[in-house]
Amino acid sequence: MRCTGLLLIPLLISHAVKALDNGLALTPIMGWLHWARFMCNVDCDADPDNCISERLFMQMADVMVKEGWRDAGYEYVCLDDCWPSRRRDASGGLQADPARFPGGIKKLADYVHSKGLKLGIYSDVGAETCAGYPGSLGHYEKDAQTFAHWGVDLLKFDGCNMRWTRLAEGYRNMSRALNATGSRMVYSCEWPLYEWDFHKPNYTAVRETCNQWRNYADVYDSWSSVKSIAEWTALHQDAVAPWAGPGGWNDPDMLVIGNFGLSHDQQESQMALWALMAAPLLMSNDLRSLCPRSKALLQNRRVIAINQDPLGRQGYRTATLGSFEVWERPLSNRVLAVAVRNKQEIGGPQKLPIVKVPGWRTCGSLCNVTQILPQYKEMGVQRQRTDLAVAVNPSGVVLLTFQPILD
Ligand code: GLA
Repeated sequence: MRCTGLLLIPLLISHAVKALDNGLALTPIMGWLHWARFMCNVDCDADPDNCISERLFMQMADVMVKEGWRDAGYEYVCLDDCWPSRRRDASGGLQADPARFPGGIKKLADYVHSKGLKLGIYSDVGAETCAGYPGSLGHYEKDAQTFAHWGVDLLKFDGCNMRWTRLAEGYRNMSRALNATGSRMVYSCEWPLYEWDFHKPNYTAVRETCNQWRNYADVYDSWSSVKSIAEWTALHQDAVAPWAGPGGWNDPDMLVIGNFGLSHDQQESQMALWALMAAPLLMSNDLRSLCPRSKALLQNRRVIAINQDPLGRQGYRTATLGSFEVWERPLSNRVLAVAVRNKQEIGGPQKLPIVKVPGWRTCGSLCNVTQILPQYKEMGVQRQRTDLAVAVNPSGVVLLTFQPILD
């Protein structure tokens, strides 16, 4: 195998820039968000089980408690677009669609809180949301107060229908408005995504304003979509990865694991990559009918622990070796997390000797190697010149940790 490119990565570089100072998202948030699976399905007559209604969110909250999601760390139950009424109320406030949310959002928040979970809501920096529902432009204070009054714990703030030159002002004003309510709400932005078409976003400002931020296109339920998000992130890693850290994270969008578009190997690839990217873990799937393998993957404690590592450094793509790609993320206690992807989409498993992983050099003379995905496997203490190799399925991943053993 020929080495087609070996990037020496700035694993130690991170920007010591202030994060949004609300004490939240010290590790990437975890939860569930409706969009990728349920989209703007508002037809509760024809499709009562899958339409955007309070029933859907209450059912998800119930399952999150009953089936171990909350205990695994998934905490936020989040509404996306299409929840509101088309009209503001008499006092200019946002209100939920009365037919689909008869109890209103405050009652839904109380319900979600009674389960030990948190509620997320969605609005837009412009006058309308992407799906054409009322946006917050001209109402930032009022909407922030409404969300606080309802007991909302997170706001996803979209960037449709706003001139790009006004995004910075809008996102900052909403950040201030949320802060002024005195309630603590995770502030999830799409500001950089809508600016990249025009110029490189000012990440110092983004990190001071938001707890997480989308950079790139919406995830779809397909391998080509997940691949393109990984590729964009790798191509822009020097611009985006250093900004991740406690309080503020790059958001590569939702986990689509458990839906229709990814093979199991591809689901493992998404999970491993999202762990290495220190990404928010927001699933968008139907938790009421998830296949057991997808459930076990999403609840894999060891993968989640990598994602939630308290050091909070985002990983990098560190090498492209033939059809392999290597991603690495430094964790606390000098552990290195390593994802080896096989990008070849034909044939069978391919072997890569672990000495080819760039970070192996930093391992010292002895290193304890553990495979986390596809199966947990202790691979033992290895010497520098080990001939240990990992076998990776087409479009799959092997996720490992290297733990140096000090003399
Ligand atoms: C945009 C966002 C998506 C979703 C939709 C809703 O496309 O990027 O995540 O919120 O709007 O309309």
